[in-house]
Amino acid sequence: MRFVTWMTTTGAKPQGATDEASAARAVREMFDAIAPRYDLLNHVLSMNVDRLWWRRAARRFKEVLADPDAAVLDICCGTGDMTMALLKRRPRGARPTLAADFSRAMLSRGAKKFGGPGVGARRVGEPYAIPLEADALHLPIQSASLDLIVSAFGFRNLANYEAGLREFHRVLKPGGQLGILEFSEPGGLLGKAYAVYFRRVLPAIGRMVCGKAGAYSYLPISVGSFPPPAKMLELMRGAGYEDCAWQPYTFGIAGLYTGARPLVV
Ligand SMILES: C[S@@+](CC[C@H](N)C(=O)[O-])C[C@H]1O[C@@H](n2cnc3c(N)ncnc32)[C@H](O)[C@@H]1O
Repeated sequence: MRFVTWMTTTGAKPQGATDEASAARAVREMFDAIAPRYDLLNHVLSMNVDRLWWRRAARRFKEVLADPDAAVLDICCGTGDMTMALLKRRPRGARPTLAADFSRAMLSRGAKKFGGPGVGARRVGEPYAIPLEADALHLPIQSASLDLIVSAFGFRNLANYEAGLREFHRVLKPGGQLGILEFSEPGGLLGKAYAVYFRRVLPAIGRMVCGKAGAYSYLPISVGSFPPPAKMLELMRGAGYEDCAWQPYTFGIAGLYTGARPLVV
C-alpha cells in the first residue's frame, strides 16, 4: 500500500482512495489487520524507546492529569500504551479517562489494559479509561467539554489534519490543552543513518513479524509526507491554538506538539 498526500488538504491517504471516507477506511482496515502483532512489533522496532516517549509526553501534562476532575481524552489510543502512561499520573478515584480509536481490533486490545473495574487486576478506585470506538474527525463528544487531548502516533494517519485540529479544538474547553506525539525526520548525519533504518530495515522486520508488507512500508512513507514541525505549528495556529510549540524527543526522531485553546476568543 502506498500513501500519498491530497492536493487540497494535508492528510496522509492511501493511494487509490477517492475521498476522506475511503482513505479513513483503508487506514482502519490496515490497523485492524496488524493489531495482533502491533505491541510486539512496536517494542522491537523502537527498541523500547517508545515507552520513554509515552511517559515523557504524559509528564508534560502532569498538572492537569493530577486534577481528579479533569476530563481527558487519548485519541487514536490503539492498544493503549499512551493511555496507560496517562493513567499512571491520575490520582485514585479520578474521573475516568476516555480512550478512543476507530479500529475495533486495536481498541479491544487496549481495553484489556486500561478498562474499568472488573478488567484485569484493577482495584477499586484505581484510575481507568473508558474505550470509545470513534473517528477522530467526528468525535461523539460535547463541544468545550475536555481539559486535555493527547494523541500518540495516530494524528499522522488522519485523512485531514486541519479537520482533526479543528475537531479537537471544538471539544476542548477554553484553556484546554492538546498534545500530539508524532514521528519526525531528524536532519544531519544521524538523520541519514536513521533514514536507512526507517526506510529499509524497519519495513523488512515488519514484513517478517507481521507477514504483511503494506503496514510497515506505509510507516516511513506516512512520516515522510507528514508536515515538518514549522508547518505543523502553522496548521495548529491556523486552527486557533495558542502557545504552540514542538519539543523534539531522541534527536528529533519523535517530538511532542503542544498547544492550547485560548481562554478568550
Ligand atoms: C500507530 S497507532 C498508535 C496507537 C497508540 N496511540 C500508540 O501510541 O501505540 C495509530 C492508531 O490511530 C488510529 N487511527 C488512525 N486514524 C484514526 C481516526 N481517524 N480516528 C480514530 N483512530 C484513528 C488507528 O486505528 C491506530 O490504532
